[in-house]
Amino acid sequence: MTRFLLLLSLALVGCDSGSSMSEEIDDAPAETTLRALATAKGLHIGAAVAAGPLASDPAYREVLGTEFSMLTAENVMKMGPLRPTPQTFSWDNSDALMDFAESNEMTVRGHALVWHQSLPSWVESANWGRQELIAILQEHIGAVVTRYRGRIAHWDVVNEAVGDDARRRPTLFNEVIGPEYLQMAFEFAHAADPDAKLFYNDYGAEGLGAKSDAVYALVQELLSTGTPLHGVGLQMHVTASNPPSMDAVRSNIRRLAALGLEVHITEMDVRIPEPATENGLVAQAQVYNDVLQLCLSEPSCTSLVFWGFTDRHSWVPSFFQGFGAALPFDEDYQPKLAYQVMQQTLMN
Ligand code: G3I
Repeated sequence: MTRFLLLLSLALVGCDSGSSMSEEIDDAPAETTLRALATAKGLHIGAAVAAGPLASDPAYREVLGTEFSMLTAENVMKMGPLRPTPQTFSWDNSDALMDFAESNEMTVRGHALVWHQSLPSWVESANWGRQELIAILQEHIGAVVTRYRGRIAHWDVVNEAVGDDARRRPTLFNEVIGPEYLQMAFEFAHAADPDAKLFYNDYGAEGLGAKSDAVYALVQELLSTGTPLHGVGLQMHVTASNPPSMDAVRSNIRRLAALGLEVHITEMDVRIPEPATENGLVAQAQVYNDVLQLCLSEPSCTSLVFWGFTDRHSWVPSFFQGFGAALPFDEDYQPKLAYQVMQQTLMN
């Protein structure tokens, strides 16, 4: 099947019945960027941003500011990059990201205040007492959230607290402080910026299953104790060959919404075997389009964020041997089939 016919058939899946493609496209908003089209449908569409290309690559900046209404910090707002020593904060990269976002009128997702990875060595290597580690969390969260108070709309307060075994991950924070660290972290963040929406973020819990049930139970428990929790981030790091069932993701989104929670797709990428083939790109486009259509159809799903936007800068190849090409733009910043199909869906 040629790319055009595929594009047409995939996009027609989302067309209103009885309307022709040409009528749909003729009525499309003047701009046809993902940003303009998604905004017109009330959806934030975003990307994770890497400090290096943001500082040095004009093409990266151009596509990012044009195609997306939301951005998140891939790394620069994690504790490790921010806190090289107990006494110092490295704000340059996070401030540069904020400056770019604000000059391009983009909404920012802060990522991530508490995570067991990307910790500075001075935190990881010491034998902290419970009160000491609580004080470190309170000071860190307070300083970071206060610095960007009123400028960061959503925070990933705690990231990946549930293990692949569906049990609480035995992180430094869980083992030294106890499971109460979660509520403490959200309360510290809320005290620093009462207007920020606070999220719990995780992977492998997009559909239904043991880990998803454990995340659901975790957020239920936090809400039952009055924790200031406003949403859940479903990361959506998936393969084109075996994506989660969309019906299961819809059920999961709906049960989280029934708790009063917003849902963000926070880190989407759809990896395929490299070198990429036509079939791989078609399967990838289908997954991107399915998730977009799902998010558009569920009112509680208010943001769809990709984990990067160009294959030139993606964590995937270094983490999944033999896989890559996971994002909507190729290494030369050209839109891929996935972009074109999502654009068509947003035009319908
Ligand atoms: O900046 C240093 C550089 O100075 C140094 O020379 C280089 C070599 O050691 O490392 C660089 O830091 C790396 C950083 O990415 C920036 O490139 C870290 O080693 C590396 O561990 C870090 O990986 C990031 C990873 O999280 C761990 O923080 C990935 O880029 C990032 O995509 C990944 O993102 C996570 C989300 O935060 C949470 N969900 C899963 C997702 C994928 O793992």
